[in-house]
Amino acid sequence: MDGRGSLKNKVVEVKNLTKKFRDLVAVDHVSFQVDKGEFLVILGPSGSGKSTLLMMIAGFIHPDEGEIYIEGELVNDKPPYERNVGMVFQSLALFPHMTVYENVAFPLKMRRLDPSVIDGKVKEILEIVRLSGLEDRKIHELSGGQRQRVALARTLVFKPSILLLDEPFGALDRKLREEMQVEMRKLHDELNATSLLVTHDQREALVLADEIMVIKDGRIEQKGLKREVYFKPRTTFVASFMGLTNVLNGYLWGDEKGPYVEISDKVKVRVPPMRKGGGMVHLAIKAQDVILSRVGEPTPGVENNIFEGTIVGEVFEGPDIIYEVALTDGLTLKAVTASISPLNLKVGDKVYVTLDPSRMTVLEE
Ligand SMILES: Nc1ncnc2c1ncn2[C@@H]1O[C@H](COP(=O)(O)OP(=O)(O)O)[C@@H](O)[C@H]1O
Ligand SMILES: [Mg+2]
Repeated sequence: MDGRGSLKNKVVEVKNLTKKFRDLVAVDHVSFQVDKGEFLVILGPSGSGKSTLLMMIAGFIHPDEGEIYIEGELVNDKPPYERNVGMVFQSLALFPHMTVYENVAFPLKMRRLDPSVIDGKVKEILEIVRLSGLEDRKIHELSGGQRQRVALARTLVFKPSILLLDEPFGALDRKLREEMQVEMRKLHDELNATSLLVTHDQREALVLADEIMVIKDGRIEQKGLKREVYFKPRTTFVASFMGLTNVLNGYLWGDEKGPYVEISDKVKVRVPPMRKGGGMVHLAIKAQDVILSRVGEPTPGVENNIFEGTIVGEVFEGPDIIYEVALTDGLTLKAVTASISPLNLKVGDKVYVTLDPSRMTVLEE
């Protein structure tokens, strides 16, 4: 065994996958793999190519270039039903005139399994997704969350090599969506499934994923363990997509104490030690890492990364308040504090802003 790679079992591998719609490149030479038992979430804004990518893996769209392997086998020319993939669409695509039982039994009937085998499998999976007792209900007699579970059960029942999920919780209200996300992850673990889900919702990606792959304009921006992508974004796009983040532009300088970024005449921000020596850079600082206080301790200035500012905006979000803080020269930062904070800041208040070099990322693009 020569390291981790050889121990892993690739369930899906795509190489240079490309799809064009006329002159629009929807998916642009994308290569990645999903390992057995892994939950990979593809995160990207609307129109970034997520559905096209998933539909190619499922076999509903034929790629212009590249290869798709499932369990080691090249499947480019195989129809969807010969790929052993399970797909859940945002629309769910359930059969409205059939009962819960009939919907879930459908893929097994298509595979011509023995009726007694079908019955056992359907009952087992309905138990797992907590739908037992609702076998005879029609789809229109179910709540949104229950329909969601039928769609999952119908896909899980034939034990596909991989579960492909295209924004499956998009139609649910927020509370239900958050419950289903937690349930989905539990289900994935219980069944030791391999899952690939696409979403535009960074929170959903963080809740569900082992690894996150961020895509933009059909290309991979970054792929890695979710904490890595969250705490160590590699591009400004990833940084801004992974939650409320300030991106400041400036010139990188160094002095005897180390590197700093000159954002404006008065705002020079000390940054963590790095290899790069100079040039224009972007500084990504999460809103919750912009620390506000009433008095500067010890004193403002580049030595301590403490800056004077004024609160110019406030959004109350329940547990949190998002403040907009003006430093100088039209330069503002977003800062999140707990709404129960004793600071009790109001628009117009003078504050000090502390930026911890260990909580920021210097980016070149
Ligand atoms: N059948 C199609 N014909 C033409 N353009 C399409 C078609 N399907 C998708 N597109 C375009 O390809 C891009 C990617 O679409 P899609 O994969 O649906 O993105 P996402 O799922 O990330 O929102 C979009 O610009 C979309 O308009
Ligand atoms: Mg889509």
